[in-house]
Amino acid sequence: MQRASSSNWLVQYFRSITLMFLFCCSIAVGSSQTARAADDLEQVALNLVTLLRSARAVISDNQGHINDAALGDKGLSGTAVVAKAKENFKKATGHDIADFLGDGLHGELLQVELDAIAAVMDDAQEVINEQGVGFKGFLPAIFARQVTEKFRAGTSKKADLKLTAPKNFVRNRANRPDKWEHAVIEDRFKSAGYPKGQPFGEKATKKGRPAYRLILPEYYKASCLSCHGDPKGERDITGGKKEGGKLGELGGAISVAIFD
Ligand code: HEC
Repeated sequence: MQRASSSNWLVQYFRSITLMFLFCCSIAVGSSQTARAADDLEQVALNLVTLLRSARAVISDNQGHINDAALGDKGLSGTAVVAKAKENFKKATGHDIADFLGDGLHGELLQVELDAIAAVMDDAQEVINEQGVGFKGFLPAIFARQVTEKFRAGTSKKADLKLTAPKNFVRNRANRPDKWEHAVIEDRFKSAGYPKGQPFGEKATKKGRPAYRLILPEYYKASCLSCHGDPKGERDITGGKKEGGKLGELGGAISVAIFD
């Protein structure tokens, strides 16, 4: 009797230790899964941003060419720009974009963005190939906004991509920062000692929907200031008013949301 009850006690003891162990394991696995999910989303968001920058660089690299009144076909079809954007993406990340394209949501969103880039360029052919016109109003920021609009429409509300700027620098009201973007720009990006160029990401909400959000700061280069620089209020080549921005100043940001 005595022996039986003590072995019962032992069985109970080991059972509860085992249960505790399993419980702890499940917490550990659960939290590492959450951590992995956040890492993955950060990677997806960063790649979406890098692809937008890679494509926008094709437009800035070709701005002189696009503005050349003497030229007709600029050779910047959807297919051509996508191919160059892929090259730039590889230079920036060290990865072939094809490596990500089969990868679930990651691949799906990158493909939507590639399609958006191609569609914007295909739509722009008539404008950019018109002979006899110099400045055609086809600029990197306008190209980028059009890509984000098509991306937004193409993702069936799974994700969002946006070009924005500090409130005092916003030209197009459609690009105004929302509350979350405004707070990150003012409280983090503009704070002394914030590492230049470092993206910020966290779980947050967008328009009331839970999402992983990430935003990358961008700074004015000399080439930006003919439109965004001094004297403030003077008209630039586009007819818009210059913002009075300074070289190296925080001039914009690319913002991503991936909804839960
Ligand atoms: C030829 C004039 C011109 C140049 C050069 C130029 N921009 Fe812009 N930028 C514009 C216009 C026009 C818009 C409004 C685009 C739109 O309608 O969405 C704009 C919009 C933006 C936006 C989106 C937020 C907003 O204000 O609506 C950012 C960010 C931006 N520019 C940054 C830059 C940076 C950084 C550079 C240099 C690398 C640059 N721009 C060069 C004319 C210019």
